[in-house]
Parts: sequence; C-alpha cells; structure tokens
Amino acid sequence: MAGLLPAGLLPGGLLRAGLLPGDIASPAELAGRLAEHSYLADEGLATAAYLGLKLSRPLFCEGEAGVGKTELAKALAALLGAPLIRLQCYEGIDASQALYDWDFPRQLLHLRAAEAAGAADLEGLEKELYSRRFLIARPLLAALETTPAVLLIDEVDRADDEFEAFLLEVLSDFSVTVPEIGTLRAATPPAVVITSNRTRDVHDALKRRCYYYWLEHPAFDREVQIVRLRVPEASDRLVRQVTAAVQALRAEPLLKRPGVAETIDWAQALAALGADHLDPALAAATLGAVLKYREDAERVLDVGSLVARAVAGA
Ligand SMILES: Nc1ncnc2c1ncn2[C@@H]1O[C@H](COP(=O)(O)OP(=O)(O)OP(=O)(O)O)[C@@H](O)[C@H]1O
Ligand SMILES: [Mg+2]
Repeated sequence: MAGLLPAGLLPGGLLRAGLLPGDIASPAELAGRLAEHSYLADEGLATAAYLGLKLSRPLFCEGEAGVGKTELAKALAALLGAPLIRLQCYEGIDASQALYDWDFPRQLLHLRAAEAAGAADLEGLEKELYSRRFLIARPLLAALETTPAVLLIDEVDRADDEFEAFLLEVLSDFSVTVPEIGTLRAATPPAVVITSNRTRDVHDALKRRCYYYWLEHPAFDREVQIVRLRVPEASDRLVRQVTAAVQALRAEPLLKRPGVAETIDWAQALAALGADHLDPALAAATLGAVLKYREDAERVLDVGSLVARAVAGA
C-alpha cells in the first residue's frame, strides 16, 4: 500500500509540523515579512496568520469584497516560497472538481493497449487502472501531495452545505480516502487560507477548525501605505486624496462599498491620466474606477463636494 503513495504523502499517524519559517518568531515579524511581499497586515491578521502557520490550522478570512483576503494567501505563498494552489468555489462544486477524478480516456487507452497486447491478468489490470497513475489530482489532493504548499479555498460561501461538510472532513486530518487506493495523508499539511464574502453564513463546525479573522477596510494611514506600495507612480498627494475620498464614499449608503482594490484602481487611473492631485471634475470623470453600480454613482449625487471635503482633509 505504502508503495502506491506518491511522494509527499505518507500513511496515517505521522506528526504534523507547521510551515512557519524558523526565523519568524512573532506575529510582528511575520507582518514584516509579508510587507516585503507588498502585503500590509494589521496586528490581528498577522497574529491569526502566525498561529495558523505555527499550529497548522486553516485561517478563515471573512470580509467585504476587495479587503485583501485572496491577496493574503498569495503573499503567504510568496513568503514561504511555496506554490499557491487555488480552489475557487462556486455553486454546485463537488468532490470530483475539488479533490480528484479518474482519467477515463487514459484508462480506456491503457485498457485497449493491454487488450491488444493480450493481457491475461485481468485482476492485475483492473488494479493498475485504479492506481494513482490514472488519478487526476484536483486542487485539494494536489495540495496534500505538495510540500510545502499554500492552499487557497476561495469564496467558500459560494459553495453549498454539502460541499462544506466535505471540506470539513478533508481539513480535519488533511487526508483523503480514495476507495480504490486507500487513505492518502499529507506528511506536512499545506498552509490553508479560506475566504468568504459572507454572502451566506458558513457553518460553525468549519469555522471551529480554523482561526477566524474578519477583515475590515483599513484605516486611513494603512490604506495610504497600501496604495503607495501598489501604485508607486502616483504622487503622495494624489494617494492621500484618493484614499480620503474612498473612505468618505464608504460612509455613504452604497450598494457596493469600494474596497482597497478600488482605491488602488482609482489611483492608478488618475496617475495614468497624468493627474498629481484629485479635484471634483477629475473625480466625476473617473468615478467608474471606484463605483461599479449606476445606482451608486447616482446616489452619490454631489461627488464634487464629497471629494472637495475629503481632499481638504487629506
Ligand atoms: N493589506 C493589503 N496589503 C497590500 N495590498 C492589499 C491589501 N489589502 C488589499 N490589497 C490590494 O487590494 C487588492 C484586492 O485584494 P483581494 O483581491 O485580496 O481582495 P478580496 O478580499 O479577496 O476581494 P474579493 O472578495 O472581491 O475577492 C489586491 O490586489 C491588493 O493589491
Ligand atoms: Mg478574493
């Protein structure tokens, strides 16, 4: 049985080690290293990520769109020098798309070739057809087989209850059972980041196995730093003014509040137009970078004065 297991997978009962690099001794140090990869985490998020890595627990990040949930997983992968294996969830996703599938065309070809060669050992042939060789690893299995790896289970709130229960099973002991092969368990579990936009509540049982963190929109100073990092071509004045204006927009009753992603887009758009500061006319002309619903653009009737106020305070 053990001979069938691909490299990186070992039969049950082995101790797990976290993926935290030995030279990172505190959440603050982890935050520093994430910053080197252009991700600015606040203290709470850095602590949750530190514990997740140290104790091999998934990190469950929930928050509105564009607050940096997916990007955290990317930054962690870059920091660890590990591949990012992404499972994008959607309505109706099931185990064969998430875990593994049999490669039917290849199995069939193999069968035909064996028949043509006059294979006599039918039992052996069947065993061969259902071996790891003919298994297609989908993201979950791929993550268990890869060491080290960062597994991003993105937008889990889009999947259904059944899929959540299945995830729970896989994440409980980082193993999967393929009936024809046996149980495959990760020797070193991947670092796992699960994200949700909270379009529905995810079950407590799944959250209980994770460190949970609610990502808020960043405060002004942190957002300015993020935009500076991401849009180095924008002037300091422009970055501060755009950030102030977005923060003011977030206080309005909008269908979709702009995230950090929109602040970055807006600064980028303005810099691309050669602007070094924001004014009401420029804001009105480029509002599509930040408000993505017609109703929202109409709701913020007086963009001019909102921007003028924000710019004055920045
Ligand atoms: N703390 C941060 N440090 C650096 N960049 C950030 C941070 N937060 C957000 N960003 C930037 O904002 C962009 C959007 O972030 P991301 O895609 O991770 O959002 P999200 O929370 O996954 O949104 P969605 O729910 O829409 O998928 C990223 O490309 C990144 O450039
Ligand atoms: Mg995302």
